[in-house]
Amino acid sequence: MDLSRSVAVLVLIVAVCFPSASAEDQLAVGERLLVEQTLVSDGGAFALGFFSPDDAAGPTRRYLGIWYNSIPAPRTVVWVGNRDAPAAGSPTLALANDSSLVVSDADGRVLWRTPGAGGSSSSSSSPPPALLTNEGNLVVRSPNGTVAWQSFDHPTDTFVPGMKVRLSHLTGEGNRIVSWKSPGDPAPGSFSYGLDPGTSLQLLMWNGTRPYWRTPVWKGYAVASMYLSAGTVLYTAIVDTEEEISIAFTLSGGAAPTRYVVTSTGRFQLLSWNSTVSAWATLLSWPSSGCSTYKRCGAYGYCDVTAAPAACRCLDGFEPASASEWGAGVFEQGCRRKEALPPCGGGMGVGFVPMPTMKVPDKFSLDTGNRSAEECAARCAANCSCEAYAYANLQSSSAKGELSRCIVWAGELVDAQMIGPRWGGETLYLRVPVAAASTSPGGKASRNAVKIAVPVSAAVLLLTCILFLWFCRFRDKRRKTESQKTLMPGTRTGTTNTSSEIGEGDHTGDLEFPSIRFADIVAATGNFSKALMIGRGGFGKVYKAKLDGGQVVAVKRLSKDSEQGAEEFKNEAILIAKLQHRNLVRLLGCCTEGAEKLLIYEYLPNKGLDAILFDRARKAVLDWPTRLGIIKGVARGLLYLHQDSRLTVIHRDLKASNVLLDAEMRPKIADFGMAKIFGDNQVKANTRKVVGTYGYIAPEYSTEGVFSVKSDVYSFGVLLLEIVSGIRVSATEGIMEFPSLIIYAWSLWREGKAGKLVDPSMAGGCSQDEASLCIHVGLLCVEDDPSRRPLMSSVVSILENGSASSLSLPTPVQPAFIEMMGEKSQRSDLENTRNTMAMTVLQGR
Ligand SMILES: *[C@@H]1O[C@H](CO)[C@@H](O)[C@H](O)[C@H]1NC(C)=O
Ligand SMILES: *[C@@H]1O[C@H](CO)[C@@H](O)[C@H](O)[C@H]1NC(C)=O
Ligand SMILES: *[C@@H]1O[C@H](CO)[C@@H](O)[C@H](O)[C@H]1NC(C)=O
Ligand SMILES: *[C@@H]1O[C@H](CO)[C@@H](O)[C@H](O)[C@H]1NC(C)=O
Ligand SMILES: *[C@@H]1O[C@H](CO)[C@@H](O)[C@H](O)[C@H]1NC(C)=O
Ligand SMILES: *[C@@H]1O[C@H](CO)[C@@H](O)[C@H](O)[C@H]1NC(C)=O
Repeated sequence: MDLSRSVAVLVLIVAVCFPSASAEDQLAVGERLLVEQTLVSDGGAFALGFFSPDDAAGPTRRYLGIWYNSIPAPRTVVWVGNRDAPAAGSPTLALANDSSLVVSDADGRVLWRTPGAGGSSSSSSSPPPALLTNEGNLVVRSPNGTVAWQSFDHPTDTFVPGMKVRLSHLTGEGNRIVSWKSPGDPAPGSFSYGLDPGTSLQLLMWNGTRPYWRTPVWKGYAVASMYLSAGTVLYTAIVDTEEEISIAFTLSGGAAPTRYVVTSTGRFQLLSWNSTVSAWATLLSWPSSGCSTYKRCGAYGYCDVTAAPAACRCLDGFEPASASEWGAGVFEQGCRRKEALPPCGGGMGVGFVPMPTMKVPDKFSLDTGNRSAEECAARCAANCSCEAYAYANLQSSSAKGELSRCIVWAGELVDAQMIGPRWGGETLYLRVPVAAASTSPGGKASRNAVKIAVPVSAAVLLLTCILFLWFCRFRDKRRKTESQKTLMPGTRTGTTNTSSEIGEGDHTGDLEFPSIRFADIVAATGNFSKALMIGRGGFGKVYKAKLDGGQVVAVKRLSKDSEQGAEEFKNEAILIAKLQHRNLVRLLGCCTEGAEKLLIYEYLPNKGLDAILFDRARKAVLDWPTRLGIIKGVARGLLYLHQDSRLTVIHRDLKASNVLLDAEMRPKIADFGMAKIFGDNQVKANTRKVVGTYGYIAPEYSTEGVFSVKSDVYSFGVLLLEIVSGIRVSATEGIMEFPSLIIYAWSLWREGKAGKLVDPSMAGGCSQDEASLCIHVGLLCVEDDPSRRPLMSSVVSILENGSASSLSLPTPVQPAFIEMMGEKSQRSDLENTRNTMAMTVLQGR
């Protein structure tokens, strides 16, 4: 045993000292790779060699391929060389002296050959060897070191991290992912996937030459992140330069093998290797529903994927061209206008009706130039053939200096979809006769708009939709497992020693902390009547109740997901009740019975901050001194939780609706200590559930599940910006088409216009100095790097000392999730793309 170990050590030493001796990731000129041999990349991730898709039936057809080296049989092949020309016997691979790779069969016939480096191959220096990189890329270099050919430029049916799907602006040519003919035949199939050469603003999947499916149209060139599972993030980057536009993706460190594939049956899927079950898990698959294939609902129709099941509908102002066919499920004829447009004349008599959250139709044209939303609308209004327009602000993401994207449609509107409020959709403005229009040509929705845009979270980047799709699946799965759990009560024993946590000198018994009878609560809340419900959140519903003594209280009935035993719950509640501060809602008592767990709080008449702050009619009540008072109060309450109480409590769900206001508009933080009451895992699960508060979650939590006091600081920063601006973090209105409130605030700050962020509806205006200081602090709190965020103690002290302290504050850095790909210094080559993405990952931590 010792001997074998020292041999192994020796081999290791040899391998380290003489790398050429083990350079099995390379093929030099003159060497041959035989049928049973493989090259294995340096890190061991990928292997190159010959394979047969039908091993069982006998190797009658052999192909050169690259596959995952660590994934057991059947091999997962990500690239095929001679996909049209299989070898019947024993083929070999060689690198010719002109830097071309050659697959020849046993008789020496050439089956497949890459173009050589060209130029004079007679130069004395022999070409460098071909190399299989650990990303799974087979690279051939010219003698001068430039890449002569690489397999990443010639994908087959698989899109792996590091690969780029590209389209040249100069030639209109690009590479496409092309499906296999069938699962056993790597010959090119009929489905292919790539950038749309017509517009380069979307990706298309074709069946032969016909479009088959389409992604949403992009609203920016940037890095988008998608959360696959706890700790695994997929970053997608779109890079647009003078020469070409490309899309690539990468994974956070330590992620399982993950790839996109175009199947032979015409699906575009995201797959991830699950080593527990030793199989590929399909995370996502498109087209997502029956009517989301190309043009399925006909001209002027759209596929509503927000409905269950998804269904074809007519765009606003249109009706089925043939009601009987439509009723029978035949949509080919599409829809027609209910009311004809007036004869064309100077743009009069028309208006636009907005349809939010759409995947906008195909066949648009880009109206280039630096335009505002109003100009874009006016351009469309002035042109009789313009049927619709859509507008996006690219300011934070454009690579080529374009500041906006105005797209217009002339002719039929085809292949639209309604993809829901969070899935990366945008507003489509449809031209309609003016009587039907609810908007002015300026595009601003009036009060009585036909369509009321649901507050839409800012999901601007391509593929953000995937996150939510995935999220919903994940959540549904989670729900199932949770409900299974609750079917098995009493699996946890109530053994706790919380009293020792409280520390010496504590007299739990002394605390006046009534345990209230369940029957009394049932009576006081009218058996949890709907009429008395005053709120609901991730943790449960809240009721207003009048106890026997006449005291009015708020009763929180926890949802039954909590795993805690009754005794443990009670101990935690007693602990939380000890946290008393004028900016925290007081916990008065608790109650358990069976699976029921209730918390009894003081009742605050003014309810949540969100109910006033985001209400057009009521927000004026909050003048600047009141808002500043709320900001300072929340900061003090949080500081107490983090530092000044004997327990360090991380709130984990700070948001406007968790800040309650008393009669004098003083803030009190609610729902603190839920982590303790629910148990850590439960709270994590819960935070996932309340996807609506997504905008408040710090990046390190969403990417890595890491919580700290700094995650609360992030949420505080978001809340602060909301209070100053009166704009919800999830809003898309009022932020000038920026992707989010945070980016909008940062952009204004950078331009020295932070004052523009201040809510104009504030009565009596505000002190510019104070507002500016608040915004500065807010931006520091929402920095992506937790170590750059201030502690709550600093926040409180800065706010108390006022603008005198602003001079010494650091300058907030740009939020990383919009880290632009477009800086002039960042060229489009693969290396840089990866660096930029790595940087984004880094800053996300
Ligand atoms: C390297 O060599 C190739 C052909 O061998 C040629 O096309 C290319 O321009 C050369 N590049 C440089 C930087 O010399
Ligand atoms: C390259 O290979 C070809 C054919 O294999 C041979 O004729 C030629 O002499 C070689 N050139 C050099 C520079 O070795
Ligand atoms: C793809 O196109 C072919 C030929 O036009 C057709 O027969 C086939 O049904 C199409 N496949 C799908 C999935 O629509
Ligand atoms: C792998 O699959 C199993 C069974 O479906 C599942 O429980 C587990 O969570 C999966 N692992 C990952 C990393 O997704
Ligand atoms: C773009 O237009 C806006 C106003 O419409 C103007 O403020 C800005 O300077 C313009 N930018 C460029 C680069 O032309
Ligand atoms: C109106 O739009 C059509 C289609 O986009 C375009 O061809 C035409 O030139 C435009 N007319 C004017 C006057 O801009």
